Amino acid sequence: MVELSTEIAGLSIDSPLIAAAGTAGYGTELASVDCLRGLGAVMTKSITLEPRGGNPPMRVVDLEAGMLNAVGLANVGLDAFVTDVAMHVRDLPIPAIPSIAGESINEYEQVAAAMQAMAFVKAVEVNVSCPNTDDGRAFSESPEQLRTLLVDLRRVFKRVGMIVKLPLDFAHPSVAAEVAIESGADALTLINTVPAMSIDVKSRKSRLGRWSGGASGPGIHPLAVRMVADVYRDIAGPAGVPIIGLGGVMRWQDAAEFILAGASAVGLGTALFVDPRRPRKILRGLQKWVRGQGCQSIEELVGAIEPC
Ligand SMILES: Cc1cc2nc3c(=O)[nH]c(=O)nc-3n(C[C@H](O)[C@H](O)[C@H](O)COP(=O)(O)O)c2cc1C
Repeated sequence: MVELSTEIAGLSIDSPLIAAAGTAGYGTELASVDCLRGLGAVMTKSITLEPRGGNPPMRVVDLEAGMLNAVGLANVGLDAFVTDVAMHVRDLPIPAIPSIAGESINEYEQVAAAMQAMAFVKAVEVNVSCPNTDDGRAFSESPEQLRTLLVDLRRVFKRVGMIVKLPLDFAHPSVAAEVAIESGADALTLINTVPAMSIDVKSRKSRLGRWSGGASGPGIHPLAVRMVADVYRDIAGPAGVPIIGLGGVMRWQDAAEFILAGASAVGLGTALFVDPRRPRKILRGLQKWVRGQGCQSIEELVGAIEPC
């Protein structure tokens, strides 16, 4: 047997596959139908200070190459998470990584402090794709605001690993990834959904209940691979900061691409909607691939892409 375990932000996980934020609820639903097998950890949907009902329907539509969503960070809010949900998340058979979000630094701080106070939480993913109430721009869009947010959260997370989740960045090298690492990120998750739109040509309306949303699935996979490869080669690799590659993984080959590009772990989102049992199939494929490459552990293949 080859070794597929890995470490992300101080958290040791038995499988490099992680359920992506917002695509596995709080992990409890997948656990109840025995669909956590093959996964090393599960990210919860992003938790905000106040409960959020989310956007009006349609929130999810299918695309030729994946799906488009505008869920709007629907979640129970911090208080209900702590009192009603956290104990179930704590008892999952694999580690859960809460994802947090907010519209102001103060909101993020309060949610982060509550996570820090729960002993079972070893790492938190910070979703920085939320628009700041002050200027409507996502935190990840402004390097200054991103730095202020993350430096603040770094102070809050004393014993908790800070994973920063970034959207696709066309800049090279990624400014946001540099800022995240300089601000003390223990790991990066790359990438979030890609801003996108789909129009019903009969009604001439957006197919979502709002103007636009975020695309996920196979169509975004090569964009995510490029970003992981660039960030690993230029910033995260030299700094020793692990990456969770995320975006469009449907088959073991997609996961293997992320590993070669420099990811230490691989997220699965849209794939779980298609087939919640996909992780165990992907894991089996990875096992064979690692062995076929003549390696004892998947770690040997992280960033092992050959130069052109
Ligand atoms: C329905 C849906 C809900 C999502 N909710 C969240 C969320 O709450 N927080 C977050 O950081 N990302 C969220 N995402 C983004 C995913 O975690 C992931 O970054 C994205 O879907 C790309 O991965 P995939 O192509 O494997 O789906 C959501 C994605 C989908 C499809």
